[in-house]
Amino acid sequence: MLKRRIAVLVSGGGTNLQALIDRQQAGDIPHGQLTVVIADNPQAYALQRGEKAGLAVAAIPRRQMSQEQFEGELQATLEKYDIEVIVLAGFLCILSANFLRKWQERVINIHPSLIPSFCGKGFYGLRVHQAALDYGVKVTGATVHFVNEIPDGGKIILQKAVAVLPDDTPETLQRRVMEEAEWQLLPQAVEMVCAKLCEEQADRE
Ligand code: GAR
Repeated sequence: MLKRRIAVLVSGGGTNLQALIDRQQAGDIPHGQLTVVIADNPQAYALQRGEKAGLAVAAIPRRQMSQEQFEGELQATLEKYDIEVIVLAGFLCILSANFLRKWQERVINIHPSLIPSFCGKGFYGLRVHQAALDYGVKVTGATVHFVNEIPDGGKIILQKAVAVLPDDTPETLQRRVMEEAEWQLLPQAVEMVCAKLCEEQADRE
């Protein structure tokens, strides 16, 4: 069976990475192979999750370098592991148009709202849920999309709605969106993208 080699890029706790690891171990990502976890800071707990699952891990400290240097090291790491698909799973750096040009329709991101609501520059993590509560929406959710040069602006792959409850705090809403949407959608979307790439390769051969 052909498998696309996947890098997961992370900045923090890595519960979405964990969902990918768990789904892979359950056999639900047959067209993809989680290969390396790359963090933009060495403190990211997600690195420990990756190590525990037997994946390669790398930290590229974004704060200590320019965007160009960071993306140069990132590209080198991706090439070292023969990566074909990049998954942004709680990765908080914005990648440049120049970098993304080499990876068109190969980078996917999970965002904790129903795009085009509460997305774009400055909307990440709990801030997204705070904005949804401030606005007073009764339904929010999560979106998996391809990454292009517009923050949260690429083609949508999957979306799922989640109810906002009257007593929600950003933390309770974040947890519900993760449990009911993110941890299901991301592995599903990764499998869909990898399966399509496998099909395209089989057609060419
Ligand atoms: C997730 O809710 C993810 O959707 C969000 O950060 C959290 C990371 O959690 N991403 C963004 O807000 C991107 N704009 P995790 O590290 O536990 O997966």
